[in-house]
Amino acid sequence: MKPKVSVFIAMSLDGFMARTDGSIDWLDKANLKVHEGEDFGYNIFLESVDALILGRNTYEAILKFDLWPYKEKRVIVLTTSKIKIPFNLANTVTASKESPQDILKHLSDEGIKHVYIDGGITIQRFLSLGLIDELTITIIPLLIGEGKRLFGSIPTDITLTHSKTTIYDFGYVQLKYFI
Ligand SMILES: NC(=O)c1ccc[n+]([C@@H]2O[C@H](COP(=O)([O-])OP(=O)(O)OC[C@H]3O[C@@H](n4cnc5c(N)ncnc54)[C@H](OP(=O)(O)O)[C@@H]3O)[C@@H](O)[C@H]2O)c1
Repeated sequence: MKPKVSVFIAMSLDGFMARTDGSIDWLDKANLKVHEGEDFGYNIFLESVDALILGRNTYEAILKFDLWPYKEKRVIVLTTSKIKIPFNLANTVTASKESPQDILKHLSDEGIKHVYIDGGITIQRFLSLGLIDELTITIIPLLIGEGKRLFGSIPTDITLTHSKTTIYDFGYVQLKYFI
């Protein structure tokens, strides 16, 4: 059976998930207003996933963090290039240029039940192929004007079923949908 595939991402109100150069300085700045300890349900979500599929750009951005956030979870980096995998991640991180369908098939064969997809281009590819089951989008009340869009062209309309809206008192709105 295909694993459940989820997205959990922050987006500016005008639809961007990163600036054109990939930076998320706008998100880091907005997060300065967030109450200490508020994680928007991210840690519970992360605990619920067995594996992650990251686009190469997202992987490279996360490698620059002080701490690798995915602990011992299996991470597959989608890329057609040769990527560096640090020694301390060699047991959990692998690179792949397989199609999304083939990767999910292999993960299913390994007993993986829930996969977290991250990266704009990567999310768009999986959405276009009808492979995403759940979307959690935290809308940041900020317009950045241009950048990398979370959503792009799709071969056919996608109808979503609303599951939950959470409104935070500092202005963030989190939307959860099933597809
Ligand atoms: N707002 C948020 O919450 C949030 C979350 C995550 C990331 N970000 C930001 O978003 C930026 C990254 O997003 P992005 O849209 O640039 O891209 P991305 O999806 O992270 O990475 C795109 C790259 O992934 C590889 N790829 C994707 N699908 C593939 C496939 N089926 N087969 C082979 N390779 C595949 C390709 O790499 P190659 O070119 O190597 O082939 C492609 O160029 C980062 O700067 C990050 O900081 C923001």
